Amino acid sequence: MKPQLPAFLLPLFFSRALAADFTIANGQIFTPGFAVLDAPQPGTPLGGDTIEVALDVSANGKLNLPPYGDGSPSKIYNITIFLSSYTTGRNFTITNGTASANNASLGDIMLSESGSTVKHVKWQWPDCLVGDGQPTTSDSDRGIYNISIRQNFRLNNEDHYTIFDVPISVTNSIPSNGNPSCDSLDNPLLTEDQIDAAAANTVGVLFAPGDATQVEATYPDSSDDEEGLGGSKPEATAGDGLGGAGSSSVSGAVCWMAGLAVFLVLLT
Ligand SMILES: *[C@@H]1O[C@H](CO)[C@@H](O)[C@H](O)[C@H]1NC(C)=O
Ligand SMILES: *[C@@H]1O[C@H](CO)[C@@H](O)[C@H](O)[C@H]1NC(C)=O
Ligand SMILES: *[C@@H]1O[C@H](CO)[C@@H](O)[C@H](O)[C@H]1NC(C)=O
Ligand SMILES: *[C@@H]1O[C@H](CO)[C@@H](O)[C@H](O)[C@H]1NC(C)=O
Ligand SMILES: *[C@@H]1O[C@H](CO)[C@@H](O)[C@H](O)[C@H]1NC(C)=O
Repeated sequence: MKPQLPAFLLPLFFSRALAADFTIANGQIFTPGFAVLDAPQPGTPLGGDTIEVALDVSANGKLNLPPYGDGSPSKIYNITIFLSSYTTGRNFTITNGTASANNASLGDIMLSESGSTVKHVKWQWPDCLVGDGQPTTSDSDRGIYNISIRQNFRLNNEDHYTIFDVPISVTNSIPSNGNPSCDSLDNPLLTEDQIDAAAANTVGVLFAPGDATQVEATYPDSSDDEEGLGGSKPEATAGDGLGGAGSSSVSGAVCWMAGLAVFLVLLT
């Protein structure tokens, strides 16, 4: 028996789920890691053929795309994403690094869209989420979910595995269109105590405007003994993500920050 809320209480529960704090600047949501979430925004009702999660995996140019130098003090090992809900009892794999048949779950997102620092993770909704509107029955799998972004990375010689949950609602129309089966994508749900996100996330939200964190990283074409400082490519765009460590900069980062119209929105 899955825990369920009566449908009329879901909107109330959802606004409570949104009470978490997010660090949002210029529509970008900063996370405990190199990924910066461009979309969706927390609390968005979603549907359509696919869910699309847009992630800048370079912290807006502070870390180049892979490949990294051997022994680079900073790098992304991998990013996995799940769609889970304690309300519906589901925990679907969006990507765990290994594509399953027909991309029902996706392969390594760091290797997708080669050269682009923004990865648009498009995942077809599985069959039990097909429908329209709020869940109408107590055993519906539609309703509120977290997009759970798990980052395995190294920052200045320290390894981290962080957990960033973004609440969304699966309440818009999802058409039936050869959707993969929910059961083939479902994983066991762990309790919040087992996951212990607070312990995993001690590194804190990184790279928001005003954060002075400097990134030490090396790339294959930088000289072996040189540790390029990150923040050197604040203007990085799709297409120039691969390549040298570049010259350094603190000043680049500072200009970038000063140039931004900075506003932090804390959803309360
Ligand atoms: C992600 O990277 C970590 C650290 O290297 C490794 O232990 C883990 O197996 C990797 N997971 C995936 C899905 O590649
Ligand atoms: C989303 O994750 C938070 C913890 O990050 C948890 O408290 C909340 O219950 C989760 N929401 C759902 C719908 O499972
Ligand atoms: C799965 O996605 C990858 C990366 O986008 C693509 O190259 C491949 O063709 C897709 N495979 C299928 C069966 O759709
Ligand atoms: C990745 O996820 C798919 C779908 O949930 C699962 O079948 C597969 O065993 C997972 N692979 C790994 C390495 O965890
Ligand atoms: C969902 O499944 C993945 C893979 O097994 C696991 O790492 C993650 O902690 C699970 N999420 C929840 C909320 O249980």
